Amino acid sequence: MKYIIANWKANKNFLEAAEWCGVLLHNIENNSLLKTKLGTDELRIVVCPPLPFLSLVKEKLQSHFIHVGSQDVSQFEKGSYTGEVTASSLNGLAQYAIVGHSERRNNLGEKNDLIQRKVDISLQYHIQPILCVRGLDDPIITNAPIIAYEPIQAIGTGKNEDIATVVSQKKQMKMGENQLFIYGGSVNEENCKEYMRHSEIHGVLIGTACLDPQQLYSTIEAGIS
Ligand code: PGA
Repeated sequence: MKYIIANWKANKNFLEAAEWCGVLLHNIENNSLLKTKLGTDELRIVVCPPLPFLSLVKEKLQSHFIHVGSQDVSQFEKGSYTGEVTASSLNGLAQYAIVGHSERRNNLGEKNDLIQRKVDISLQYHIQPILCVRGLDDPIITNAPIIAYEPIQAIGTGKNEDIATVVSQKKQMKMGENQLFIYGGSVNEENCKEYMRHSEIHGVLIGTACLDPQQLYSTIEAGIS
């Protein structure tokens, strides 16, 4: 299975979110190869919108076998934690949660023990955590099923890391046999295919290039060609 994960970050309003889904679906409808792949174990697209649009995006996309994920999850199970979004509240809504994104590590001071708690609580509520690591200094949490390697210098800069470096970084990470490895950082329609076709890489995490649904579609199309 190859993954294409689209992370909107803190972008779009409700109307824009609905329009985005409409454009993506329209494109998918006209691509029978992609439509077939989405129904199988070959390809999984996961869209991670801001939390207020999670239900909307799920409702619109689920008929086409596109999954949704949360961009974060609370470390707390439940209770008096105003504003937190718990794994139990995401259960049944989102199948995935991004955890430990470098923007949260760098801007919000998230540390490894907090991130470990987020991984644990996600799994407890049947949400697959996608653990983001910036490089070899961020530990691979052993029970995280998906590791997203996202070197800071490649995020949002247009300077994607070359495939040889990505694979060599992977080899130096202490990954478990069953952990999936995906790459993120300036993935777009020009470079998606080389990551997607590589046997050591199980998919990509896309930020900037997913904000325009047309651009995301072109990137997906290139990635599966
Ligand atoms: P980018 O973002 O595609 O804009 O580099 C990737 C990410 O931060 O997940």
